[in-house]
Amino acid sequence: MNYGPLIFLAALFALSGSWLGFVVTPSFQLGTLQQTNTVGAGLTYPLARPGLAQQGLQVYRANGCVYCHSQMVTQERTLCEVVLTEAGTNTTALVAALHKLNPNYNQEALDAVLKSLPKTVVFNTTKTKADAAVKELTQTTAKAQVVITPAGPDIARGWGKRRSVAEDYLYDYPTLPGAQRVGPDLANAGARLPDVNWHLRHLYAPAAEVKGSTMPPYRFLFELRKAGLTPSTQALQLSPGIAPSGWEVVPRPEAVALATYLASLRADAPLYSTPLSSAPTASASADTNAPAGGANLSTNAPAAK
Ligand code: HEC
Repeated sequence: MNYGPLIFLAALFALSGSWLGFVVTPSFQLGTLQQTNTVGAGLTYPLARPGLAQQGLQVYRANGCVYCHSQMVTQERTLCEVVLTEAGTNTTALVAALHKLNPNYNQEALDAVLKSLPKTVVFNTTKTKADAAVKELTQTTAKAQVVITPAGPDIARGWGKRRSVAEDYLYDYPTLPGAQRVGPDLANAGARLPDVNWHLRHLYAPAAEVKGSTMPPYRFLFELRKAGLTPSTQALQLSPGIAPSGWEVVPRPEAVALATYLASLRADAPLYSTPLSSAPTASASADTNAPAGGANLSTNAPAAK
């Protein structure tokens, strides 16, 4: 029997299927991705990294940092809370509304709440329930808002405020999300460690900066120069005993670029695709994003896609 056409069809199906799945679909989903506005401040996000930091990305890539570091924060869920920001004029109605939301509130607790606004009045709830609670509270002329906080192990470790999304990588080529986590996630390394000099010292001698660090030192990114009478302005300010005495450590251009790149890593802008709101301060009612007259900041916190 002639299997020719059957084999041809099977191969065609396998190839076109994978092409559709791996090329066409992602291209539809992400191919047209553009800069977007941050929620609240309305700033353009992301901006391309400065030139030196872009060079640093190539140094990061060339030195295999990605074998130990991911740049991808994950998140498991979002926690919704309702924060009362202003008591309004009708205290009796507000007290009744608060009591309805949380029957455990006695008069004493309610007095304490009203004295120290803004205060969280509903904890750990869903977006729908939080919106309903805000509606109920605002009907009493008080002002309240929903606060959404992403949660999960990565966020608990302080690696970021929210999960990483495709926009975060828009201007990085190649993107290096990484798959190993021998060291901490670096998606927000610049937010945690904004000092370029710290990164330089850490690259030269990780254990001198972080006690017990197992990260390998990248000494070849630095040059040892015989110390002159006056120390070089570019030389690292290392603790005594790290550099051989009589020598100073000067970063090579690659090291400076890499450190600039690390300090530029920051992916915590609040986006529509990752609901996240900052806890309101006393002046939160002046938030330009709040709908006129209302106190519901739900524009600040759309439901997750
Ligand atoms: C063999 C695995 C390994 C490699 C390769 C590696 N690191 Fe690390 N890195 C670690 C470990 C472990 C830590 C945690 C201890 C510390 O802070 O020194 C760390 C910490 C860091 C930190 C501090 C992060 C924080 O939040 O405290 C930065 C920044 C960093 N590494 C950058 C780099 C860069 C840049 C490279 C490539 C030049 C690199 N690492 C290569 C293992 C590694």
